[in-house]
Amino acid sequence: MNDAFDDSFRAVLAEYEARDASEADLPHTLETRDQRLLPVGREGAQLLHAMIVGAGAKNILELGTSYGYSTLWLADAARKTGGHVRSLDVSAQKQAYAKTMLGKAGLDRFVTFEAGDALEIIPRLAGPFELVFLDIWKELYVPCLELVAPKLAPGGVIAADNMIHPEIVREKALVYRRAVRAKPGMASVLLSVGSGIEVSRLVGPLDEGL
Ligand SMILES: C[S@@+](CC[C@H](N)C(=O)[O-])C[C@H]1O[C@@H](n2cnc3c(N)ncnc32)[C@H](O)[C@@H]1O
Repeated sequence: MNDAFDDSFRAVLAEYEARDASEADLPHTLETRDQRLLPVGREGAQLLHAMIVGAGAKNILELGTSYGYSTLWLADAARKTGGHVRSLDVSAQKQAYAKTMLGKAGLDRFVTFEAGDALEIIPRLAGPFELVFLDIWKELYVPCLELVAPKLAPGGVIAADNMIHPEIVREKALVYRRAVRAKPGMASVLLSVGSGIEVSRLVGPLDEGL
């Protein structure tokens, strides 16, 4: 297996990181929210990448493409496992940008982008998913959990971002953490990597006690 990141991946990553740095001065308002990359960040992305490649996960679902920073990493991991990423975002315009960037990195063939409301799309996805990256607006985490948990493969993982940062979403993140930890069959741990990632693994039936 070739585990190296190639030059086109590195060039596109550098482009994303330059854009992210240039957004540092944008005010944090609801109006500017959709202009931002809102990336998971280098450490969180490296963790997801390592989890996918390490487990050999093939069937990967991303909830929240945004402009594709995280998708770049997921797609590279999928390339290495022989897998595929399905990435959902309500914004077709953001996904068009992501598609162009992934194309430049030579990774677009490892991703199916679907624009629309994740809550409407998830029920018609077949699964089973070995890794789900949950990174949409935080009030949607619990409804997404309810829809996606039954579609996890045995041993499948949901990795949910923004559990610790930014502070403004911490309460919603806590609501999610309580919900996932209350689920029979899920074993869950909070990792203080990047913005804080809750890693929840399906270890038994969802409708029984552990
Ligand atoms: C934090 S950003 C995702 C960042 C991305 N994962 C990354 O690391 O580069 C959250 C995204 O969720 C999308 N979103 C919000 N509500 C959604 C919904 N109901 N269905 C699908 N996507 C949604 C937003 O458009 C936004 O792009």
